[in-house]
Amino acid sequence: MSPPGTDWVAWHRQYEAEGPLSRRLATVQAHIDRILDQGTSPFRVLSLCSGDGRDLVGPVARHASSVRVEGRLVELDPVLSAAARASIAAAGLDGLEVREADAGAASAADGAVPANLVLLCGIFGNVSDADIERTIRAAPMLCAPGARVIWTRHRREPDLTPAIRRWFEESGFEHEAFDSIADSTGSVGVERLVGSIEAFDPSLRLFRFRETTGYWLDDLEASAPDVVAAFRGIEEGKFISVRREVRRRTSTGSAPAIVAQLAAVAGAFDILLAQLPDRAFREPGGEGDWNVAEAIGHTAHARAGLALAAALAASDRWPVDAPPVVPGVPGAAAASRDELRRRIAMSQRSIERASRSIAGHETDPCPLEHPLVGRLRCGEWLLFAGVHDLMHLEQLHAIAAGPRVVASPA
Ligand SMILES: C[S@@+](CC[C@H](N)C(=O)[O-])C[C@H]1O[C@@H](n2cnc3c(N)ncnc32)[C@H](O)[C@@H]1O
Repeated sequence: MSPPGTDWVAWHRQYEAEGPLSRRLATVQAHIDRILDQGTSPFRVLSLCSGDGRDLVGPVARHASSVRVEGRLVELDPVLSAAARASIAAAGLDGLEVREADAGAASAADGAVPANLVLLCGIFGNVSDADIERTIRAAPMLCAPGARVIWTRHRREPDLTPAIRRWFEESGFEHEAFDSIADSTGSVGVERLVGSIEAFDPSLRLFRFRETTGYWLDDLEASAPDVVAAFRGIEEGKFISVRREVRRRTSTGSAPAIVAQLAAVAGAFDILLAQLPDRAFREPGGEGDWNVAEAIGHTAHARAGLALAAALAASDRWPVDAPPVVPGVPGAAAASRDELRRRIAMSQRSIERASRSIAGHETDPCPLEHPLVGRLRCGEWLLFAGVHDLMHLEQLHAIAAGPRVVASPA
């Protein structure tokens, strides 16, 4: 059975380009390598929601001559399970098996515990806070004495990683490592069981993956509520309500929360950019005669530009001769997928820098004007940058959904 909503096979394509997810993978693998360096045979592993198993298979293959690794990968998606089996076979790792099952049911781990290493990667961003806590409190029953647990989670506000680390501590784990993934909200944690192990209870429910609707805007709403709410006016053809919502949702001190939402929007772009077929970049981009690459380059430029303009006004550095009207500049028509992903990531860094000048000055006036909403206040431009983003993200989703159906952001 495939998990509903998200196309996890498409999601895995993000690994094919340099980006936050491939950097997270490298961090997880470095920890597995380090742990296997100290491992003794037989070393037992358990990976829940393993995807195609690429985090584990490489390090285990690298250590094949020094330590025998045995264990189980649990993955619900049949295509990813098959991919995991294929790479395990290609690497000649006969100690690893893949079970196509619901990893949220503890029974999926029956016979594969206690493990010396438990991977909980790509789970905590997709289940409820209560399920995260439940899974962590149940983790000792999956572990051998001294076992490590490697977990991942984004740090978008409200950042749950401090609570995650506390729940591990309260469950008998000692904190070993916490890595923030550069230029993203991703993070990787490693905990070591120093407390007592617990009897395995296969009847326990650990977590349920959050249902995604399969509609990109609804799915984005959880991590970018103000941006999505303001954008809905455009969806309904009511531009006046965009202006109203942008004003209603901006106040002194609102900038950090809006920047976190813009990071979620940048993440949604990144996922979609990773998934689009190569040919899509040269297709009509939904705006004038621009192609997709031009439209995405324009989006990256616009979101950084709006934030910079607002920052200049907020810090009384608005150039006297600057034109007040935002020009619509296309990006480079031949830009590659990787270049565009980099541009979006860079635009988010520019926004974060600019927001430091805007913070506290959100309601200050700004001379800038946009054809769609006229003149806004400094902090309002940050929120409007997100609305503008979504106009182009919507076009991209339409292009991606064209003849083939591609996943919504997860
Ligand atoms: C975010 S991906 C993470 C994959 C891998 N752990 C990684 O970090 O690259 C989540 C994975 O969980 C799988 N999944 C979703 N619900 C599941 C469930 N109930 N049981 C097992 N796997 C599930 C998806 O198919 C997907 O491969």
